[in-house]
Amino acid sequence: MLVSAKEMLDKAREGKYAVGQFNINNLEWTKAILLTAQECNSPVILGVSEGAGKYMTGFKTVAEMVKAMDESLGITVPVALHLDHGSYEGCYKCIKAGFTSIMFDGSHFPIEENIAKTTELVNVAHNLGLSIEAEVGAIGGEEDGVIGKGECADPNECKMIADLGVDFLAAGIGNIHGKYPANWEGLSFETLAAVNEKVGDMPLVLHGGTGIPDDQIKKAISLGVAKINVNTECQLVFQEATRAYIEAGKDLQGKGFDPRKLLAPGFEAIKAKVKEKMELFGSVNKA
Ligand code: 13P
Repeated sequence: MLVSAKEMLDKAREGKYAVGQFNINNLEWTKAILLTAQECNSPVILGVSEGAGKYMTGFKTVAEMVKAMDESLGITVPVALHLDHGSYEGCYKCIKAGFTSIMFDGSHFPIEENIAKTTELVNVAHNLGLSIEAEVGAIGGEEDGVIGKGECADPNECKMIADLGVDFLAAGIGNIHGKYPANWEGLSFETLAAVNEKVGDMPLVLHGGTGIPDDQIKKAISLGVAKINVNTECQLVFQEATRAYIEAGKDLQGKGFDPRKLLAPGFEAIKAKVKEKMELFGSVNKA
C-alpha cells in the first residue's frame, strides 16, 4: 500500500538517517527501486517529475502502475509516490491521480502568491492524507549549458514557509541538480545549521544527491536532512550498463535486440545503485 511520506520522514529525522527519493521514468526503474527497497527492508520515495509524468502518458498512468506493481510484487515496506518539483496545476493533477505526496515549487512566484498557494495546497493535501514538500532558495543546475551555482536559502524565509504547515522542506544549501562542476565549493553547512535551528524538528530535504561526497551526505543527515533525492546517478549507471550490452553485440542474430534483455543490465545497475545509496543514507532495516 502506498503511504504519505510524513511518518517515514519524521522517523528518519528522529533516528538520524535519510530516506532516498529515487526518480522513476518507466516500468523498469519502478520495479528496480521497489524490489531493492523490499530487499533492503527500507522505506522509499518514488519521485516523479512533471516531464516523467508526461512521458508515461500522465500521472494517472503512473499512479495506477505503481499501485498495481507494489501489490503484485508483494511489497510491504512503506512506499510514497511523490510529485517532484510540482507546479500548482501539477499538484492538483497528482492529488486527483492518487499520489500520496506532492512537492509544490512556488519559488518563482512573488512571495505573497507563493504563501497563498502553498497554504491552500497544504490544506488540500492534509485533508486527503497526503504529505507536502516546499522549496526555499533555488536549487541550481544546468541550463543552456551553463551550470548555475546553487543558491543558499534565507533561514527566516525557511521558517516562514515551514510555519505554513508543510511536512518537509527543501532548502538550497549550494546543492545543484546533475553533475557538480569541478570547482564546486561543497554544501554550505553554515546555511544548513542556521535553517535547522529555525525550523525545529522539520525533516529537511537535500536535492541534487548525485555526486555529493559521502562525508558531506553524512554531515547533512546529522544536521536534519531526512530525505535525499537521487536521479542523475541512476541515469548514468543505466546508460553505462545499456551501452556495454549493445557494444557486446548481444543482438538476435542481426534481427535487433530483445527489449526485455536490452534493459536487463540497466535494471540490475539501478538496483545496485539504489542499494548503495540506502546503505549510505542509513535507511536499511528501517521499514
Ligand atoms: P540529481 O539528478 O542531481 O541526482 O538530483 C535529483 C533531484 O534532486 C530530483 O529532485
